Amino acid sequence: MLGRRQFIRTAVLGTGALVLSGKSSFAHAAEPSPGDSQIDVLINEPLGTISPNIYGHFAENLGGVIYDGIWVGPDSAVPNIEGIRKQLVEQMRKIKAPAVRFPGGCFADSYDWRDGIGPRDKRPRRTNFWADTAPAAAPASHKYDPNQFGTNEFVHFCQLIGSQPYLAANVRSLPAERFYRWVEYCNSPAGSTTLADERAAAGYAQPFNVRFWGVGNESWGCGGEFTPQEYAVEFRRYTTWVPRYGQELSFIASGPNDDNWDWTRGFLEEMVRKGPGALRAVYGLALHYYAWNLSRGRTRNWIAGKGDALQFDVVDWYELLRQGDVMESLINGHWQVMSEFDPEHALKLVVDEWGPWYKPGSELTPGDQLEQLPTLRDAVFSGMTLDIFNRHPEKVALAACAQLINCLNSLYLAHEDNFCVTPVGHVFEMYAAHQGGQALRTVFLAPQVRYQRDGQPATFWGLQGSASLHDRSLVLTVVNPHVSEARETRIQVQGAGVKSGSATILTSHDIHAHNTFANPEAVKPQEANVEIAAPVLTYTFPPASVTRLTLALG
Ligand code: AHR
Repeated sequence: MLGRRQFIRTAVLGTGALVLSGKSSFAHAAEPSPGDSQIDVLINEPLGTISPNIYGHFAENLGGVIYDGIWVGPDSAVPNIEGIRKQLVEQMRKIKAPAVRFPGGCFADSYDWRDGIGPRDKRPRRTNFWADTAPAAAPASHKYDPNQFGTNEFVHFCQLIGSQPYLAANVRSLPAERFYRWVEYCNSPAGSTTLADERAAAGYAQPFNVRFWGVGNESWGCGGEFTPQEYAVEFRRYTTWVPRYGQELSFIASGPNDDNWDWTRGFLEEMVRKGPGALRAVYGLALHYYAWNLSRGRTRNWIAGKGDALQFDVVDWYELLRQGDVMESLINGHWQVMSEFDPEHALKLVVDEWGPWYKPGSELTPGDQLEQLPTLRDAVFSGMTLDIFNRHPEKVALAACAQLINCLNSLYLAHEDNFCVTPVGHVFEMYAAHQGGQALRTVFLAPQVRYQRDGQPATFWGLQGSASLHDRSLVLTVVNPHVSEARETRIQVQGAGVKSGSATILTSHDIHAHNTFANPEAVKPQEANVEIAAPVLTYTFPPASVTRLTLALG
């Protein structure tokens, strides 16, 4: 079986063998089924505070993410702030992006941060980790890293958008000493060390105060092909006695891929062999999970199992959502294994790569490796995933959608002076309202979606979502996955009355709808009032939609 790990190791990119019957559009028969659904928000059952950090992002030096996506250069005709794409900064301020992970991904374990500091015209060009799999149309900057966007530029980008930097260190090919020095470069006080002076010479006298540090990436695969036990030894070595400079450091260990419980167990088992105190060095375990297999159970091959981002039928729509829904059981499963070693749960999960992954072919900019065109399906998927994180605030401390721009589940697409917000970007803007709120237990009752999956009956849940309380304001996000049925729903807020409300709805009559440079507003949120005419609120969620209700409580 060809898996993601082998795919990356053997540097194979294929177009995939799966042939999908593509319906170009799907007409909604938006007939509500009256009164069939109910949502109970339990004000008196708080689950924990929703950390803003679960709304984080991932920007790897891969394809068009950094060069062209974020970095256009100070001399570019594209409006920029000291080289950083201005439109991206403006959009990201709207979504209250809490953290951005850089420089990878697999790229991280091939990167020497020293190449990316100092005067830009003196920086070396290096072969990018992704060079061998770059499409023929990829520009040179995607294959040979010009190192114009390094630590300074990344931290500046984070400062512009109000985010915390989350740096991923190289464990596979750099010694631990380089890791300490990177921390020193970023965090040592002004004037204290030679590296602080180098930082000051670049215009950054004050320390960057970077808190989040990934210790390798996918160390079970591209990050070194370690066993979990070997990796635990490396993790201990890299994180022991790293100078703090008064800054709390949160070390994130390379965690499991999907449902690899053995990785979680093996890593923690080896860590505690040094005594339970060893776990204090770990802030979180990075879980990676991509929804990629749309083969309806026919194959587990990483290439053949992929679907198309744009050409899909109704079953593919549900299939992707079923794949995404697995996230909740992965969180619960790894949490369970973690409790064997850390019953107090000091360690958290960091889901720092998530999203759908399709076969190549839908790129808006030919040559942008792993770029795909997010549709309404991906918006619904993303809303569903963020709701899952919201429902587990005690478990998930940080998350990062893969990836920010021009790659996989992008929030934005950009090329030269073209830019657009994808349906996924709109979901992040809608869901930003949950950040910092008190998550509330919420019970969803709705008829299941029923459909035929290759001649066999299949089902999927009818409504799901999450709720958070912010003083007397309730934010309720709801996903209706049904491609053609609206859900008329009774909403009861148990423990409070609803005074007024408003709705923001993301949907389309076409489940394939997506935004492009030529048509950037094909999918965009609509605002609506919520009528509060009776003690129990009734609201109809349109088919194939993500809705945010903001309710003022009495
Ligand atoms: O996001 C693309 C790649 O997927 C990342 O580089 C790697 O960590 C994962 O396998």
